[in-house]
Amino acid sequence: MKGKQIMFIGDSVSINQCESLVCFLHSAVPQSQITQQTTGSITNYTFQDYGVSVIVFHTLFLVDIEEEKIGRVLKLDSLKDGEIWKNMDVLVFNTWLWWYRRGPKQPWDYIQVGGKIIKDMDRMAAFKMGLTTWANWVNAEVNTTRTQVLFQGVSPSHYNGSGWDHPEVTNCSRETQPISGSTYPGGLPQAAYVVMDELKKITKPVHLLNITTLSQLRKDAHPSSYNGFKGMDCTHWCIAGLPDTWNELLYAAITN
Ligand SMILES: *[C@@H]1O[C@H](CO)[C@@H](O)[C@H](O)[C@H]1NC(C)=O
Ligand SMILES: *[C@@H]1O[C@H](CO)[C@@H](O)[C@H](O)[C@H]1NC(C)=O
Ligand SMILES: *[C@@H]1O[C@H](CO)[C@@H](O)[C@H](O)[C@H]1NC(C)=O
Ligand SMILES: *[C@@H]1O[C@H](CO)[C@@H](O)[C@H](O)[C@H]1NC(C)=O
Repeated sequence: MKGKQIMFIGDSVSINQCESLVCFLHSAVPQSQITQQTTGSITNYTFQDYGVSVIVFHTLFLVDIEEEKIGRVLKLDSLKDGEIWKNMDVLVFNTWLWWYRRGPKQPWDYIQVGGKIIKDMDRMAAFKMGLTTWANWVNAEVNTTRTQVLFQGVSPSHYNGSGWDHPEVTNCSRETQPISGSTYPGGLPQAAYVVMDELKKITKPVHLLNITTLSQLRKDAHPSSYNGFKGMDCTHWCIAGLPDTWNELLYAAITN
C-alpha cells in the first residue's frame, strides 16, 4: 500500500468505511503521524511516513446534482467529479442510501434524463440509470492499469424484522446477536441485483466488494441509539466493527 492514494467515493457509508480504515491502519502503525485535511466534499488522511493517503469524497449519487433556476436537478447522465477521481490509485465506490429519500430529506427537486426534466420517476430505475452512467464512465475514462476500481455492494439496514423472520421488530435496538449461519432469510435486496447487473456492463476489471449478505447477518453491529445524535441508527456500522471486515476484503482485493 506504500505510496498509494485510496479514495472512497459515496455517501455516509463510505465515510464510515474510510474512518474504519484510518483507525485500522493507525492501530498497525500507532507512531506514524497522520495529517487530516478537509476541503469541500473531500477529506484526506495522510500517513506521513508511508505516503499513504486515505481519502473520502462525499457524494450521494455519484452522478451530479446541479443548482439551476428551477431548483436542484439530479442529472442521471452527468458525472463531472470523475475528473478528480480518475487520478487516484484505488477507487472504492458506493451509492444506495439516498435513492429512495422523499420529502425534506430528498436533496433534489427534479431529475434530468437525457434532454428531459421530470418531477420524479421510479427510484430503482433512477438508481440503475445512475449506475449505468458510472459504468460508462469507468469504461471510457479510467485507466485500470494504473487505477484499481472497486464497488462496495449495497450496505443493508435493519429496520424491518421481516428480513430475519421477526416481522414485529422495527429497529435494531435490541439486537445483540448476529443471525446464525450464512444465509439471510430475507435474501438479497433488489438493489444488489441491480448493482451486479450494472457491473457486468463494464469491460474493464472492476471488483465487487460483495459485503451485502455478510452485513445483513450483522443486525447487532449498528450504533443503534449509541450514535451521538437523537434517533435510532440501524444504517451505519460501529467503527472498529463490521467495516473492518469490509476493509480486510478491500485489502485482499488491492494487494492481490
Ligand atoms: C495507463 O497507465 C499505465 C500505467 O501507469 C501507463 O503505462 C499507460 O500509458 C496508461 N494508458 C493510457 C491510455 O494513458
Ligand atoms: C418489511 O418487509 C416486508 C417483506 O419484505 C414487507 O412486506 C413490509 O411492508 C415491510 N415493512 C415495512 C414497515 O416497511
Ligand atoms: C425500537 O424498537 C423498540 C422495540 O423493539 C421500540 O420499543 C422502540 O420504540 C423503537 N424505537 C424507535 C426509535 O423506533
Ligand atoms: C455476492 O454474494 C452473494 C451472497 O453470497 C451471492 O449470492 C452473489 O452471487 C455474489 N455476487 C457476485 C457477483 O459474486
